[in-house]
Amino acid sequence: MRIAIVGPGAIGRLFAGVLVNGGHRPLFVCRREEQAQAFFRDGLGFVDLAGEEKRLRVEAVTGDVPADTDAVLFTVKSYDTASAAAKLPQGIPILSLQNGLGNGETLAKQLDPACLALGLTTHGATAEGDTNVHYKGAGLTVLGDWYPQNLGKNSPARIWAELLTSSGHPVTLTDDIRTEVWKKAMVNIGINPFTALYRKQNGELLDSPSLLRLMRLTVEEAERIAAGEGVVLTNSFARVLEVCRQTAANTSSMLQDVLAGRRTEIESLCGVIETFGRNQGTETPYNTAMLELVRAL
Ligand code: PAF
Repeated sequence: MRIAIVGPGAIGRLFAGVLVNGGHRPLFVCRREEQAQAFFRDGLGFVDLAGEEKRLRVEAVTGDVPADTDAVLFTVKSYDTASAAAKLPQGIPILSLQNGLGNGETLAKQLDPACLALGLTTHGATAEGDTNVHYKGAGLTVLGDWYPQNLGKNSPARIWAELLTSSGHPVTLTDDIRTEVWKKAMVNIGINPFTALYRKQNGELLDSPSLLRLMRLTVEEAERIAAGEGVVLTNSFARVLEVCRQTAANTSSMLQDVLAGRRTEIESLCGVIETFGRNQGTETPYNTAMLELVRAL
Protein backbone atom coordinates (compact mmCIF):
# COMPACT_ATOMS: atom_id res chain seq x y z
CA MET A 1 0.00 0.00 0.00
CA ARG A 2 1.06 3.60 -0.55
CA ILE A 3 1.03 5.24 2.85
CA ALA A 4 1.64 8.93 3.40
CA ILE A 5 3.49 9.91 6.55
CA VAL A 6 2.72 13.50 7.41
CA GLY A 7 5.38 14.69 9.86
CA PRO A 8 8.73 13.00 9.22
CA GLY A 9 10.08 13.32 12.79
CA ALA A 10 11.36 10.46 14.95
CA ILE A 11 8.03 8.60 15.24
CA GLY A 12 7.15 9.11 11.56
CA ARG A 13 10.54 7.72 10.52
CA LEU A 14 10.30 4.80 12.96
CA PHE A 15 6.94 3.74 11.50
CA ALA A 16 8.19 4.27 7.93
CA GLY A 17 10.81 1.61 8.74
CA VAL A 18 8.06 -0.70 10.03
CA LEU A 19 6.00 -0.20 6.87
CA VAL A 20 8.94 -0.84 4.52
CA ASN A 21 9.50 -4.06 6.49
CA GLY A 22 5.89 -5.01 5.71
CA GLY A 23 6.40 -4.46 1.96
CA HIS A 24 4.54 -1.13 1.85
CA ARG A 25 5.54 2.13 0.15
CA PRO A 26 5.81 4.98 2.66
CA LEU A 27 5.77 8.47 1.28
CA PHE A 28 7.00 11.28 3.51
CA VAL A 29 5.11 14.55 3.24
CA CYS A 30 7.67 17.18 4.24
CA ARG A 31 7.38 20.88 4.90
CA ARG A 32 10.89 21.64 3.63
CA GLU A 33 11.87 20.91 0.03
CA GLU A 34 15.46 20.18 1.08
CA GLN A 35 14.30 17.42 3.42
CA ALA A 36 12.17 15.83 0.67
CA GLN A 37 15.19 15.93 -1.66
CA ALA A 38 17.42 14.40 1.04
CA PHE A 39 14.99 11.46 1.46
CA PHE A 40 14.98 10.94 -2.32
CA ARG A 41 18.77 11.10 -2.51
CA ASP A 42 19.80 9.25 0.66
CA GLY A 43 16.74 7.18 1.60
CA LEU A 44 15.84 6.63 5.26
CA GLY A 45 18.77 5.74 7.53
CA PHE A 46 17.32 3.29 10.07
CA VAL A 47 19.35 2.08 13.06
CA ASP A 48 17.51 -0.88 14.59
CA LEU A 49 17.38 -2.06 18.21
CA ALA A 50 20.51 -4.16 17.69
CA GLY A 51 22.38 -1.06 16.49
CA GLU A 52 22.52 -2.18 12.84
CA GLU A 53 22.07 0.51 10.22
CA LYS A 54 20.04 0.03 7.03
CA ARG A 55 19.27 2.43 4.19
CA LEU A 56 15.64 2.14 3.12
CA ARG A 57 14.12 3.48 -0.08
CA VAL A 58 11.31 5.93 0.58
CA GLU A 59 9.49 8.55 -1.47
CA ALA A 60 9.04 12.14 -0.32
CA VAL A 61 7.03 15.17 -1.45
CA THR A 62 6.11 18.62 -0.17
CA GLY A 63 2.64 20.18 -0.26
CA ASP A 64 -0.62 18.24 -0.27
CA VAL A 65 -0.91 14.51 0.38
CA PRO A 66 -1.30 12.88 -3.08
CA ALA A 67 -4.85 11.76 -3.90
CA ASP A 68 -3.77 8.17 -4.73
CA THR A 69 -2.63 7.53 -1.14
CA ASP A 70 -4.25 4.49 0.57
CA ALA A 71 -3.81 5.59 4.19
CA VAL A 72 -2.23 8.39 6.22
CA LEU A 73 -0.04 8.26 9.30
CA PHE A 74 -0.23 11.67 10.96
CA THR A 75 2.73 12.44 13.23
CA VAL A 76 3.08 16.23 13.12
CA LYS A 77 3.70 18.29 16.27
CA SER A 78 0.42 19.18 18.01
CA TYR A 79 0.72 22.90 17.17
CA ASP A 80 0.72 22.00 13.42
CA THR A 81 -2.34 19.71 13.55
CA ALA A 82 -4.87 22.15 12.06
CA SER A 83 -2.66 23.42 9.21
CA ALA A 84 -1.39 19.93 8.26
CA ALA A 85 -4.92 18.45 8.39
CA ALA A 86 -5.97 20.89 5.66
CA LYS A 87 -3.59 19.04 3.27
CA LEU A 88 -5.12 15.59 3.79
CA PRO A 89 -7.42 13.81 1.34
CA GLN A 90 -10.88 12.83 2.65
CA GLY A 91 -12.23 9.30 2.94
CA ILE A 92 -9.11 7.22 3.72
CA PRO A 93 -8.01 5.74 7.08
CA ILE A 94 -5.99 8.23 9.09
CA LEU A 95 -4.01 7.34 12.18
CA SER A 96 -2.87 10.19 14.44
CA LEU A 97 0.13 9.21 16.56
CA GLN A 98 0.76 12.50 18.33
CA ASN A 99 1.59 13.76 21.79
CA GLY A 100 -0.75 15.97 23.78
CA LEU A 101 -4.44 16.73 24.19
CA GLY A 102 -6.81 18.13 21.58
CA ASN A 103 -5.41 16.61 18.37
CA GLY A 104 -8.34 14.24 17.87
CA GLU A 105 -10.86 17.07 18.38
CA THR A 106 -9.05 19.24 15.80
CA LEU A 107 -8.84 16.42 13.23
CA ALA A 108 -12.47 15.34 13.76
CA LYS A 109 -13.60 18.88 12.88
CA GLN A 110 -11.65 18.97 9.62
CA LEU A 111 -11.99 15.36 8.40
CA ASP A 112 -14.60 12.61 8.33
CA PRO A 113 -14.44 11.35 11.96
CA ALA A 114 -15.44 7.86 10.80
CA CYS A 115 -12.04 7.64 9.03
CA LEU A 116 -10.09 8.69 12.11
CA ALA A 117 -8.10 6.53 14.53
CA LEU A 118 -5.86 7.75 17.33
CA GLY A 119 -2.86 5.96 18.72
CA LEU A 120 -0.15 6.15 21.33
CA THR A 121 3.24 4.62 21.30
CA THR A 122 5.87 4.19 23.96
CA HIS A 123 8.50 2.91 21.51
CA GLY A 124 11.54 5.15 21.84
CA ALA A 125 13.19 6.69 18.77
CA THR A 126 15.48 9.65 18.14
CA ALA A 127 15.63 11.57 14.88
CA GLU A 128 19.15 12.27 13.65
CA GLY A 129 19.70 14.88 10.95
CA ASP A 130 17.05 15.20 8.23
CA THR A 131 16.74 11.55 7.21
CA ASN A 132 17.94 9.19 9.95
CA VAL A 133 16.27 7.54 12.91
CA HIS A 134 17.64 5.50 15.79
CA TYR A 135 15.18 2.98 17.26
CA LYS A 136 16.27 2.99 20.89
CA GLY A 137 13.71 1.11 22.96
CA ALA A 138 10.81 -1.27 22.34
CA GLY A 139 7.48 -0.29 23.90
CA LEU A 140 3.77 -0.65 23.23
CA THR A 141 1.47 0.83 20.60
CA VAL A 142 -2.25 1.20 21.35
CA LEU A 143 -4.84 2.20 18.73
CA GLY A 144 -8.52 3.04 18.85
CA ASP A 145 -11.19 4.64 16.70
CA TRP A 146 -12.38 8.18 17.24
CA TYR A 147 -15.89 6.69 17.05
CA PRO A 148 -15.46 3.84 19.56
CA GLN A 149 -18.57 2.06 18.31
CA ASN A 150 -16.69 1.75 15.03
CA LEU A 151 -14.38 -1.09 16.06
CA GLY A 152 -15.87 -3.25 13.29
CA LYS A 153 -13.85 -5.06 10.65
CA ASN A 154 -13.23 -2.04 8.44
CA SER A 155 -12.78 0.60 11.09
CA PRO A 156 -9.69 2.78 10.65
CA ALA A 157 -8.12 1.45 13.87
CA ARG A 158 -8.56 -2.16 12.68
CA ILE A 159 -7.16 -1.37 9.23
CA TRP A 160 -4.13 0.28 10.83
CA ALA A 161 -3.74 -2.53 13.39
CA GLU A 162 -3.66 -5.08 10.56
CA LEU A 163 -1.19 -2.97 8.55
CA LEU A 164 1.24 -2.60 11.46
CA THR A 165 0.89 -6.10 12.91
CA SER A 166 1.45 -7.72 9.50
CA SER A 167 4.56 -5.51 9.17
CA GLY A 168 6.05 -6.98 12.36
CA HIS A 169 4.86 -4.27 14.78
CA PRO A 170 2.19 -5.74 17.11
CA VAL A 171 -0.40 -3.31 18.46
CA THR A 172 -3.24 -3.43 20.99
CA LEU A 173 -6.74 -2.17 20.19
CA THR A 174 -8.85 -0.29 22.71
CA ASP A 175 -12.45 0.94 22.59
CA ASP A 176 -11.55 3.95 24.78
CA ILE A 177 -8.60 5.65 23.12
CA ARG A 178 -9.56 9.06 24.56
CA THR A 179 -8.86 7.89 28.11
CA GLU A 180 -5.54 6.43 26.89
CA VAL A 181 -4.65 9.80 25.32
CA TRP A 182 -5.36 11.51 28.66
CA LYS A 183 -3.27 8.92 30.53
CA LYS A 184 -0.33 9.50 28.21
CA ALA A 185 -0.76 13.28 28.54
CA MET A 186 -0.50 12.90 32.34
CA VAL A 187 2.83 11.13 31.88
CA ASN A 188 4.04 13.88 29.54
CA ILE A 189 2.84 16.62 31.94
CA GLY A 190 4.72 14.92 34.78
CA ILE A 191 7.97 14.44 32.85
CA ASN A 192 8.48 16.67 29.83
CA PRO A 193 8.42 20.23 31.27
CA PHE A 194 10.67 19.20 34.16
CA THR A 195 13.26 17.54 31.92
CA ALA A 196 13.22 20.62 29.68
CA LEU A 197 13.58 23.16 32.50
CA TYR A 198 16.21 21.24 34.46
CA ARG A 199 18.03 19.73 31.42
CA LYS A 200 17.69 16.26 32.90
CA GLN A 201 17.16 12.85 31.34
CA ASN A 202 13.93 11.14 32.42
CA GLY A 203 15.55 8.93 35.07
CA GLU A 204 17.44 11.83 36.67
CA LEU A 205 14.14 13.39 37.76
CA LEU A 206 13.88 10.64 40.37
CA ASP A 207 16.97 11.91 42.22
CA SER A 208 15.44 15.13 43.55
CA PRO A 209 12.70 14.95 46.27
CA SER A 210 11.76 18.62 45.85
CA LEU A 211 11.36 18.20 42.09
CA LEU A 212 9.33 15.02 42.59
CA ARG A 213 6.97 16.97 44.87
CA LEU A 214 6.45 19.64 42.22
CA MET A 215 5.88 16.97 39.55
CA ARG A 216 3.30 15.24 41.77
CA LEU A 217 1.40 18.49 42.50
CA THR A 218 1.32 19.36 38.79
CA VAL A 219 0.04 15.90 37.79
CA GLU A 220 -2.55 15.73 40.58
CA GLU A 221 -3.87 19.16 39.53
CA ALA A 222 -4.14 17.95 35.90
CA GLU A 223 -5.90 14.78 37.10
CA ARG A 224 -8.55 16.92 38.87
CA ILE A 225 -9.10 18.92 35.68
CA ALA A 226 -9.46 15.64 33.71
CA ALA A 227 -12.16 14.54 36.18
CA GLY A 228 -13.96 17.85 35.50
CA GLU A 229 -13.97 16.84 31.82
CA GLY A 230 -15.50 13.47 32.70
CA VAL A 231 -12.24 11.50 32.40
CA VAL A 232 -11.58 9.71 35.67
CA LEU A 233 -7.91 8.83 36.06
CA THR A 234 -6.23 7.29 39.06
CA ASN A 235 -2.58 6.75 39.98
CA SER A 236 -1.26 9.07 37.27
CA PHE A 237 1.73 10.07 39.36
CA ALA A 238 2.65 6.41 40.00
CA ARG A 239 2.69 5.96 36.20
CA VAL A 240 4.95 9.00 35.84
CA LEU A 241 7.46 7.40 38.23
CA GLU A 242 7.23 4.08 36.39
CA VAL A 243 7.90 5.74 33.00
CA CYS A 244 10.84 7.70 34.48
CA ARG A 245 12.35 4.37 35.53
CA GLN A 246 11.53 2.56 32.26
CA THR A 247 12.89 5.36 30.07
CA ALA A 248 15.65 6.50 32.45
CA ALA A 249 18.19 7.15 29.70
CA ASN A 250 15.73 8.98 27.39
CA THR A 251 16.05 12.62 26.47
CA SER A 252 12.35 13.56 26.48
CA SER A 253 10.84 14.95 23.30
CA MET A 254 10.44 18.36 24.98
CA LEU A 255 14.07 18.52 26.06
CA GLN A 256 15.07 17.47 22.51
CA ASP A 257 12.94 20.34 21.17
CA VAL A 258 14.48 22.86 23.57
CA LEU A 259 18.04 21.71 22.84
CA ALA A 260 17.37 22.01 19.10
CA GLY A 261 15.83 25.49 19.52
CA ARG A 262 12.41 24.25 18.30
CA ARG A 263 9.00 25.20 19.60
CA THR A 264 7.74 22.77 22.29
CA GLU A 265 4.36 21.04 22.71
CA ILE A 266 3.71 22.60 26.14
CA GLU A 267 0.47 24.25 24.88
CA SER A 268 -1.09 20.85 24.14
CA LEU A 269 -0.19 19.65 27.67
CA CYS A 270 -0.19 22.24 30.49
CA GLY A 271 -1.80 24.81 28.15
CA VAL A 272 -4.86 22.60 27.56
CA ILE A 273 -5.12 21.92 31.31
CA GLU A 274 -5.12 25.68 31.94
CA THR A 275 -7.84 26.23 29.32
CA PHE A 276 -10.06 23.43 30.65
CA GLY A 277 -9.47 24.77 34.18
CA ARG A 278 -10.56 28.25 33.12
CA ASN A 279 -13.74 26.81 31.56
CA GLN A 280 -14.39 24.86 34.76
CA GLY A 281 -13.85 28.02 36.86
CA THR A 282 -10.78 26.46 38.53
CA GLU A 283 -7.30 27.95 38.88
CA THR A 284 -4.44 25.69 37.74
CA PRO A 285 -1.39 27.36 39.33
CA TYR A 286 1.06 24.48 38.80
CA ASN A 287 0.19 23.83 35.16
CA THR A 288 0.05 27.56 34.41
CA ALA A 289 3.48 28.04 35.99
CA MET A 290 4.98 25.18 33.95
CA LEU A 291 3.36 26.57 30.79
CA GLU A 292 4.86 30.02 31.35
CA LEU A 293 8.29 28.72 32.38
CA VAL A 294 8.65 26.46 29.34
CA ARG A 295 7.39 29.28 27.08
CA ALA A 296 10.10 31.49 28.63
CA LEU A 297 12.75 28.99 27.57
O1 PAF B 1 7.65 12.79 25.05
C1 PAF B 1 8.43 11.87 25.40
O2 PAF B 1 9.64 11.99 25.40
C2 PAF B 1 7.83 10.51 25.78
O3 PAF B 1 6.44 10.56 25.55
C3 PAF B 1 8.13 10.04 27.20
C4 PAF B 1 7.13 8.95 27.57
C5 PAF B 1 8.07 11.15 28.21
C6 PAF B 1 9.46 9.34 27.25
O4 PAF B 1 10.55 10.16 26.99
